[in-house]
Amino acid sequence: MTSLLIFTPVIVLLLLWVLPSLPGRRAKNLPPGPSTLPLFGNLHMIPRHRLDMKFNQFANIYGSIFSLKVGSGTMVVLNSGKAAIEVIDKHSLHSSNRPPSYVLAQLVFRGHHPMYMAPADRWKLRRKLYHQVLQESVVNKIQVPIIEVESCQLIRDICSKPEDLMLHPGRYSNSVTMSLVFGIRTPSHDTSHYLKLRQLMKKLISSGAIGATPPIDIFPFLEYLPERLWGNWKTRAQDLRGFALGLYSPLVEQDITRRSMGKRLDTFLDSVLDQNEKLDLSREEIDIMCGNLLEGGTDTTSTLILTLLQAMALNPEMLTEAQAQIDSRWRAPARGAFPHAMDNDYEIDGMTVPKGATVILNAWSVHHDPERWERPQDFNPSRYREQTQLASVYANSRDHLKCDHFGYGIGRRICPGIHLAERTLWLAMARVLWAFDIKPKVDAATGEPIPIDIDPVTGYMDGFVNQCLPFEVDVKVRSEKRRETIFRGDLVHAFD
Ligand code: HEM
Repeated sequence: MTSLLIFTPVIVLLLLWVLPSLPGRRAKNLPPGPSTLPLFGNLHMIPRHRLDMKFNQFANIYGSIFSLKVGSGTMVVLNSGKAAIEVIDKHSLHSSNRPPSYVLAQLVFRGHHPMYMAPADRWKLRRKLYHQVLQESVVNKIQVPIIEVESCQLIRDICSKPEDLMLHPGRYSNSVTMSLVFGIRTPSHDTSHYLKLRQLMKKLISSGAIGATPPIDIFPFLEYLPERLWGNWKTRAQDLRGFALGLYSPLVEQDITRRSMGKRLDTFLDSVLDQNEKLDLSREEIDIMCGNLLEGGTDTTSTLILTLLQAMALNPEMLTEAQAQIDSRWRAPARGAFPHAMDNDYEIDGMTVPKGATVILNAWSVHHDPERWERPQDFNPSRYREQTQLASVYANSRDHLKCDHFGYGIGRRICPGIHLAERTLWLAMARVLWAFDIKPKVDAATGEPIPIDIDPVTGYMDGFVNQCLPFEVDVKVRSEKRRETIFRGDLVHAFD
């Protein structure tokens, strides 16, 4: 009896393994990858932290396109610009879906979050609405004047409160995005909506982390698992839903009240409400769309400004050069873009990227490709000396050698905030470099510079956005004349 109990599962597993196309097995035509276990495939090899680093190791062994089996599903990871352009950009019509995400997409956002929508009519409508306010000409006309003034406040904040350096870029990017969506500013880094958004982002990241909820997307029967067996995951999803809507809904309400008093602004929300008789979107759909823009536009942009400070403090010889040539791809903020899913089979170099596969653009490997760049780990903006146009121009080139970076993703799902982000970054970075000398901070006790941790594993947070952990740099205004300009009355009172 005992031996029956022991051997039956072993025999079942072996049978499953011998039969073709059973869970966990890699079919012959798939891109290569590490050997698999029956049922689980490569699930046990997927780390909880810094997935992109692990993918980089696999890419060194299996090549620029490799696959992992996750239960009966397939994940295909793209690690070179060429592979990314081929699969995600040129084949965009069929590689722009999203993999299932039961907890976030269904339980938390009830199918209304644009980031998780299939590229069908509902998603197209949202992209169209985003485009109405985020297209280049509108950003230049409506947003750039706001960015001009907000970036003045950024350098003034850094000048007057250098001890809060880590918080100022977030206030800046949040204020730009809040102005775009609601016409409401974020005057200080402790403004309530900004504090709540920061909390929400942490909650979203931790609930999307591996192991935080049962892997229902891989093993759908786990949906019926009593929630107390996995850290009350359903209740936590409900709480998260309440927290997100509790932030977005009152902001929408505030704008509706403003409009009822006859005051219309050039904001995203006003533009949606103007058209809503025809669009017939529910309040919840509108709240979540607005939230999507806040989530997409805040941490991404602020992280890049902070990494600029790291880069400048550690590369003093580049500081002057960087004032003209600053570039963003040293630590791309979105580390794996956002996963895509395939709607049909796609053949590439004799391999199949199968229908239903999750496709991941591993930005880390793409940006550190030794075949494209000598010493890819070095911060060296002069690599891009000839590439003087904005990222959107190169992202549309469909040529991986012209594409200077993949930080905004590519293809149909490319970041719709690209024009706004480029201008928000450019004005902030140019002003910061114009205003400050940036050096490592010196330890008063030892007289030695305090190290800045730029190690991709220990110096940055886990999660979708590659946020740097707190670090210290010495930021000093470059001259008294510059200080006078920073605090000039017309710039200080520009919001009055
Ligand atoms: C430096 C700043 C930014 C970076 C690096 C960035 C990067 C990205 C990336 C990699 C994606 C996923 C693309 C894909 O699925 O292939 C994305 C999506 C998105 N981003 Fe951004 N982003 C930035 C700023 C912004 C801003 C300012 C906004 C809006 C105010 C925004 C709104 C969005 C939205 C709504 C999506 C979802 C697109 C979709 O699923 O169709 N982003 N972004």
